Amino acid sequence: MLGVNEKITSAVVTSALPYANGEIHLGHIASTYLPADIFTRYSRLTGRKIYHICASDDFGTPVLINAERENKSPSDYVAFWNRRDYEDFKMLGISFDSFSSTSSKENWQFVQYVFKRLSENGHIYNRDVIQFYCKFDNKFLPDRYVIGKCPFCGAEDQYSDLCEKCGRVPDEILEPRCGICGNKPIKKQSKHYFFRLSSFSTQLKLWLNTNSNLQSDVKNYVINWINEGLRDWDITRDLSWGIPIPLPEAKGKVFYGWFDNHLCYISTLTAYLRQSGVDGKAFWNSSEIYHFIGKDIVYHHYLILPAMRMGIDEEYKLPDYIPSRGHLLLHNQKISKSRNWYIGLRDFTTTFAPDYLRFYLASLTPYSQTDINFDWDVFSEKINNELIANIGNFINRALSFTQKTFSGKVPKPIEYDSDDNLSLSQIAGIAQEVGCLLSALEIDKSLKRILRFTTHFNQYFQIKQPWARTETAMTTLFIAVNAVRSIAVMLEPFIPFSCEKIWCQLGMTDSIHQQPWSSASQMRISAGHSLGKVEPIFSKIEREMIEHQKKGLGMHNGR
Ligand code: MF3
Ligand code: ZN
Repeated sequence: MLGVNEKITSAVVTSALPYANGEIHLGHIASTYLPADIFTRYSRLTGRKIYHICASDDFGTPVLINAERENKSPSDYVAFWNRRDYEDFKMLGISFDSFSSTSSKENWQFVQYVFKRLSENGHIYNRDVIQFYCKFDNKFLPDRYVIGKCPFCGAEDQYSDLCEKCGRVPDEILEPRCGICGNKPIKKQSKHYFFRLSSFSTQLKLWLNTNSNLQSDVKNYVINWINEGLRDWDITRDLSWGIPIPLPEAKGKVFYGWFDNHLCYISTLTAYLRQSGVDGKAFWNSSEIYHFIGKDIVYHHYLILPAMRMGIDEEYKLPDYIPSRGHLLLHNQKISKSRNWYIGLRDFTTTFAPDYLRFYLASLTPYSQTDINFDWDVFSEKINNELIANIGNFINRALSFTQKTFSGKVPKPIEYDSDDNLSLSQIAGIAQEVGCLLSALEIDKSLKRILRFTTHFNQYFQIKQPWARTETAMTTLFIAVNAVRSIAVMLEPFIPFSCEKIWCQLGMTDSIHQQPWSSASQMRISAGHSLGKVEPIFSKIEREMIEHQKKGLGMHNGR
């Protein structure tokens, strides 16, 4: 049975591609991967055909430079990070259907194909540009790699594209030096290719105005950007590491990473579906498309990506949703790898249960660009008070009491009084309510609603006192054990590892990851069913562990 919120259209979910250039940290997880994973897992339970696609973002000057520093070929270097990122995601239960890379053969071919189509349609032109070039490193230097004095405020050591002191964008940085070797760069001319982004202004505005699924505040500021005038977009880099521009006269030139990376959403899906004989293009075009991103890449996803798809006659349809979320702060300060102010995903998941991180971040994740804050004390309070003292407590009480008193066999209900009926109606309505919130991408609100459900059942248990009132204990436990099942199904998208344990303790032999979402509102466990082995699912976070983590903040050894 499908509820109104359970869509039958298929869907493609993409998570912004992480640069193959360093480890995944909690900031990435909070804005993008966890929301996308929760939504995908929920959608799978509703029976929706949905694929979660990701890949490593392999190209760009920083990758090349770091590879050289480590004496590795760029392809070995990105292969390392591709695998490492994938493993880290897996440890956190981020369940991609396919995790590819922008340097894959499929993407390479697709990117060159898109470039040709854009060229045929008149959306590409070239002109000469003047750029800094380092004779010692033999490289054209992108903005980040030219450092000098700000012409406005005189601040030293600023990037040539942004003065962090005064916030202005220097026209021409003074006393420029190469960010790699420190020598003075020269200026050199080079032919660059441009995408006519400006010519899509009207079409983009129309699309933004008519797509009612997009977050309206984001839409508004993007429309403002269009009104201020879009500039054509330089898609060339004079680099050895990248997808070559497929023109004989463009030898030695590759595409800028932002030209090729988002195309990898499409090339990865089609390559993945081809393995099972499915036409990726047809699937893409008959699905709802969701691109999950962080707010710093709105420009690329709301303007460049749709314009490029328009430029190839929407051969692949435009996104339906672009859920964009804010930054994660760490103890109220901006996360920064270079200042060592971050928490690596691997460090975290080797110390705490991955579900603790999922639970905590999900409880903070709104459907908006508001920044959220990671705080070690709040983390331990949430886990101890909400996950353990509320959710875990009810589950453990209901199951262990059934274990003790009825030797693990779910008792037969006798008759329902008004408390029982209230609880039954809670169960009957919950799948629909939480489902609506999850369909609407409201992660924090849906988790809150589940917590109200478990709070209700803690109270129910307390009122019914099955340990003291043997005449009603059978009915109470029958309802309570079924409520535990509902909780397990509804929490699967949030804390999948723990739900596997709950499922085992419930004595189930099938997979928690394949239960129908709507079954969270059904009494699927019959009287006489035998529970599995019951034990506490979560363990409390001790004060010392948190103090230890707080002391370690800002103490990484780089990378
Ligand atoms: N690697 C980019 C970043 O971390 C995101 C790329 S998302 C893509 O900012 F879709 F464009 F690939
Ligand atoms: Zn240099």
